[in-house]
Amino acid sequence: MEYLLGLDIGTSGVKTLLISLEGKIISSKTVSYPLKTPHPGWAEQSPYDWWEATLKVIEEVVSSIHIDSTQIKGISLSGQMHSSVFLNEKMEVIRPAILWSDTRTTEQCGKIYTKAGGLAQLINYVSNPALEGFTAPKILWLKENEPENYAKVKYILLPKDYIRYRLTGELFTEVSDAAGTLLFEVIKKRWSTSLLEKLEIDPDLLPPVLNSFDLAGRITKNIAEQTGLKFKTPVVAGGADNACGAVGSGIIQEGKVMVSIGSSGVVLAQTNNPQADQEGRIHLFNHACPDSWYMMGVTLSAGMSYEWLHKKLFNRSLDYTKLDQLAEEIEPGSEGLIFLPYLYGERTPHNDANARGVYFGISGKHDQRHFIRSVLEGVTFALKDSLELIKDKGVKIKEIRAIGGGAKSRVWQQILADILGEEINLLNVEEGPAFGAALIAGVGVGVYNNFAEAVSRIIKVKKTVVPRIQNTEKYNQYYQLYKKLYYSLKEDFKELYVYMGFANSQNT
Ligand code: XUL
Repeated sequence: MEYLLGLDIGTSGVKTLLISLEGKIISSKTVSYPLKTPHPGWAEQSPYDWWEATLKVIEEVVSSIHIDSTQIKGISLSGQMHSSVFLNEKMEVIRPAILWSDTRTTEQCGKIYTKAGGLAQLINYVSNPALEGFTAPKILWLKENEPENYAKVKYILLPKDYIRYRLTGELFTEVSDAAGTLLFEVIKKRWSTSLLEKLEIDPDLLPPVLNSFDLAGRITKNIAEQTGLKFKTPVVAGGADNACGAVGSGIIQEGKVMVSIGSSGVVLAQTNNPQADQEGRIHLFNHACPDSWYMMGVTLSAGMSYEWLHKKLFNRSLDYTKLDQLAEEIEPGSEGLIFLPYLYGERTPHNDANARGVYFGISGKHDQRHFIRSVLEGVTFALKDSLELIKDKGVKIKEIRAIGGGAKSRVWQQILADILGEEINLLNVEEGPAFGAALIAGVGVGVYNNFAEAVSRIIKVKKTVVPRIQNTEKYNQYYQLYKKLYYSLKEDFKELYVYMGFANSQNT
């Protein structure tokens, strides 16, 4: 038997998956680590915590099964995007990594627009707007706020690239993660020397860029001894978690769309025809497959809104199955109760850290069931916002696949089909980015001829949820009102921010 190993350096922990070439899960382990919030709105982690957790998961997986480690044909990695690892010349970590969910860099984003010559010019360079979570503003923040640390920086890496470096001793990134730095020409697939110059960031701080499926190194002797892996096992570059999640759901051809309802919600559409949104409302990043891109919208509080309801409104008194049952008792549209899920601000389409959650239209007839259902509906309206932008860019949608915790809920599956007005497919594999990373490893070492072969061998649709026309019609009306509400409240959110002085914490 032959196997592949996928690792995902996530925000809550490292997950490792050992799969057979037919996609069967042989072993899976997760080790978690803390997220630190030293100031409101900040989100940091220690790259050393990621590393210790990685060693532990690999060692546990390799020792949990009775296989010869020569049977592991390849390893690859997925990771949280945008988060910055700053290393000195001895390759030591200088300070905790500043994560994708950290919002301290609003000022630096403003400076990036000014230095680049405005939004249109920035998009011309790197196909994306300056968002607080992206890497470039974090680099400028370090330079301005911790100059003594910045002076020591020799390399800037992304999380999975740091872990790959520790496994192989080789320094690289690859296109799908480089895309999220805001320093990469996404369409031409090279670092943007023009933007780097304008931002006064030394290009030598950034590693060389590979394809996601390129061989990036081999397991060193030392790591082999520590983990039980075989010395010189090939390590393939891998990808950003969203790219890997898409590979692991078979989203590798034009017209295929992934809707992921995790803590945050993601709508991602593969495209062979990359076009940046001139207003920067939607991201354009490189996919892990050859000459492939994806457009992506992110709603920050998807599963997180449901979790908020469960923990804070219901004080955990009802479990999610019960909440789902209660939501199902109410008609689509929650009898006029609309929820805006902007608990921690919103990314797509508003890019507004000041936005906040709203229940709109409360009347005396509403009871707790309406409050539950309207959260599911509001989050799904936010996902529809991203899908509409993707359609607006000319993508012809052929299939939508839903993944993530939210997609396991029967009532949410139907709401998704009804609000999007599209059939929703559910899959036989639900392992997330680590699974995609394992498939990338397989393509990289040649056990699959290409991505299409890997995907068609392994990923199957197991259920299709069909939209109910009368519900879709009703939701279309509510959606128009949902969209208007943000614009009606936009200035009020700003005023509230001033009164409260609250931080723009995403707190994911
Ligand atoms: C994508 C993003 C998140 C992180 C989560 O732009 O910020 O999805 O990749 O790990």
